[in-house]
Amino acid sequence: MGATTTTMGGTTTTRRRTTRTTMRNANAMTNATNANAMTTTRMMMCTHGRRLNDDGYLGRHARGDFGSVARRARRYANGKNITGTRVARAFEGEGLDGEGRARTRARANARETTKYVTKLNNLSCCVEAEQFDRAMMEELFDVADEMSKVKPGTPESLMLQGYIMSTLFYEPSTRTRLSFEAAMGRLGGGIVSTESAGEYSSAAKGETLEDTMRTVEGYADIIVLRHFTAGSAKRAAAVIGKPLINAGDGPGQHPTQALLDVYTIRKEIGRLDNVKIALVGDLANGRTVRSLATSLTQFKNIKFYFVAPPVVRMKDDIKNMLTAKGIEWEEATDLMAVAADVDVLYQTRIQKERFANLDDYESARGKYIIDREVMAALPKTSVVMHPLPRVDEITVDVDTDPRAGYFRQAQNGLFIRMALLKVLLKV
Ligand code: CP
Repeated sequence: MGATTTTMGGTTTTRRRTTRTTMRNANAMTNATNANAMTTTRMMMCTHGRRLNDDGYLGRHARGDFGSVARRARRYANGKNITGTRVARAFEGEGLDGEGRARTRARANARETTKYVTKLNNLSCCVEAEQFDRAMMEELFDVADEMSKVKPGTPESLMLQGYIMSTLFYEPSTRTRLSFEAAMGRLGGGIVSTESAGEYSSAAKGETLEDTMRTVEGYADIIVLRHFTAGSAKRAAAVIGKPLINAGDGPGQHPTQALLDVYTIRKEIGRLDNVKIALVGDLANGRTVRSLATSLTQFKNIKFYFVAPPVVRMKDDIKNMLTAKGIEWEEATDLMAVAADVDVLYQTRIQKERFANLDDYESARGKYIIDREVMAALPKTSVVMHPLPRVDEITVDVDTDPRAGYFRQAQNGLFIRMALLKVLLKV
């Protein structure tokens, strides 16, 4: 705060008044929250940029905790009726050192090139696929395209300098954790991380998820959580006042995977309407296919084929949701026939770790494998996707086929996660 006051010169009075007003609003809204403390309500508020739990969004603002240069710049700019690169110009000659000016200019330029005209600018967490409508996804994808062009050593690569992201992973991960950490690093931010959090964090001593989250939000500006329990991301988001990203919650959801999957479909086949997609493999336990099916309902004329062994069929909640929205779907057993008819062939692993009964796992594994024979049936313009990791459900000789998009898909995760960090940190 002290440094901010020196830098901003005449903004002290304005801030005090703002803080007092915000405190009154915070009290009123906290009372409202106490009367209606349902998690779902908080989630809606979270989606719209408001969290009303005791230590939440308004509480922080009531305490005058305006930490980031970006937010200070925006308020300063608002006070002077200026926008975009003029924010950076306004800082010149006001005591920021060269690095500070470069960072501020990078943030201002990034804001100017990305016109947030949808609800994306209100997004304050990423917990479930339902939060993203078509316009938000398309705008995020445009930001991801920008992120894919960020080069090391440029001002843009310092966009998140000074911010810290915490990655808390209670389940194993290669792509999600490393791409989030690479995304933060490529934008100049810092990372505090724990993998195998159930074993190496104080969860091993009996600490609750809620207490861990409340502690970590004191250290980081944004938290990325992977947990083994469906619904855990919602629980976590409800107790903190900083952006929370769901990196997969057991068999529940994997919304950032869905975003990168839809982004990949757009890049690979050039459209998001009029798409026939086959979801193959473990559809009962696969959080990626559940989130992807939800996200694709935002587009026109989508047809789903569900190809799964009997013990891991797509669950009724997703099928009922599609039916209610008038979206065509069918369950099929002939992978070759389905492959011949689709634009996207989306394979998934049979998730051994989710089976209570290993006999069920044995009955499901190896039933649907994408090999060269299946590729021969697939149209030339189609794409094969897989959230990875793969075990044996796509044979390795498919990897050299230009339609094998799964490693490009994994790299798109980096660009989508860079975009999400930028959007959620309001830079
Ligand atoms: N697709 C995916 O979530 O991969 P990881 O489990 O390696 O993060």
